[in-house]
Amino acid sequence: MLTALQEANGFTPEDIASIIFTVTPDLRSAFPAQAARELGWTEVALLDAQEIPVEGALPRCIRVLILVNIDRPQKEIKHLYLEEAQKLRPDLAFSHRRLVVAIDGPAGSGKSTVARALARELGLRYIDTGAMYRALTLKILDLGLPLEDEEAITSVAEETRLEVLEREGKTRVILDGHDVTEDLRSPAVNAGVSLVAQYPGVRAKLVALQREMAAEGGVILDGRDIGSYVWPKADFKFYLSAAPEERARRRLKELLASGHEITLPEVQKQLAQRDSLDTRRAVAPLVAAPDAAVIDTSDLRPEEVLERLLGIIREEGNVRPD
Ligand code: CDP
Repeated sequence: MLTALQEANGFTPEDIASIIFTVTPDLRSAFPAQAARELGWTEVALLDAQEIPVEGALPRCIRVLILVNIDRPQKEIKHLYLEEAQKLRPDLAFSHRRLVVAIDGPAGSGKSTVARALARELGLRYIDTGAMYRALTLKILDLGLPLEDEEAITSVAEETRLEVLEREGKTRVILDGHDVTEDLRSPAVNAGVSLVAQYPGVRAKLVALQREMAAEGGVILDGRDIGSYVWPKADFKFYLSAAPEERARRRLKELLASGHEITLPEVQKQLAQRDSLDTRRAVAPLVAAPDAAVIDTSDLRPEEVLERLLGIIREEGNVRPD
C-alpha cells in the first residue's frame, strides 16, 4: 500500500516526515507502527492512534496518514483505499485496479512496447487487439479463401471461436482451440490483415470480445480504434504517432531480428498500404479520439514514452472509483 501511495503521488521515502496509523479497536496486539519500525523505518516518526467510531464505518481497518514534504496542493493528493475500504470514501478513492487504458496508433508507433511496460508498471492486463485480427486472417489464409470475399470471410468470423489470454506480458490467441500466437506475424498475415479487418462483420465479432474485456476493467487495450470506437469511455486514451520513415525503420529491425528477409523499401511499402487501408476504411478507421493525448514518438526512446504516459496518468489520476 505504501508503494502504491508513493507511485500515485510521486514522492520518495526521503520526503516522508512522519506516518500516523489509525486502527480500529480490534487491533490490540501488533500495531502497524511497530511493524514499520521492525522493517527498519527508523528515520520516520511513527504513531498509532485509534480510529474515530463512525456509524457505518468498517469494523476492521487500518488508515495510513503520511506527512510528506512535497509542493502539491491538497486537491492533487491521491488517496488510496484498498478493497472494502473504498466504500468509506468513494469520492477520494484512487485505484489502478479497474482502469481501462486505450492506446491507439499506426504500425511501428511503439504502442505494444509501451502498452506492455505500462501494464507491468500499473499491474494491469495487456491485450493486443491487433493479434485478434491477425488470428482471424491466419484462419482465412489457411482456408484458402480470397481476401476479397467479404461474405465468406464474415461467416467464417461468425463461427470462429477466439480466446484471448495474457501470459508473461504477451497476448496469446487461441483460435478454435489452438494457440496460434507464434504464427501471427508472418509476411502473409502482415499483407492480408488490413483487408480482413475492414469488413464490418469481422469487426463486429472482435469488437464484442474486446468490449467484454474492457467491461471487466483492469486492462490496457492497444489497437487502432479502442479510444474512438471500442471503448470511448476509457479512463485514459493515448494516440501514438511517428514519422513513416521512423516507423518503417523500427519494423524492419523487428522483422530482421525474427529471421524474416525483407528490405526497408519493402517494409515502407507494406506500412503505407496498411496505413491507407486502416485510415480509409468505412467502419472504425484508425483515428485519434478527440480527447486522446497524442504523442509523437519519432524522437523518443521507449522509456521516455512510458514516462510521458505515466506522468499523464499520475497527474490526472482522479480516476472514477471502482
Ligand atoms: O503490430 P502492428 O502495429 O503492425 O499491427 P497490429 O496492431 O497487430 O494490427 C494489425 C492490423 O489489424 C492493423 O493494421 C489493422 O488493420 C487491424 N486492427 C484493427 O483494425 N483494429 C484494431 N483495434 C487492431 C488492429
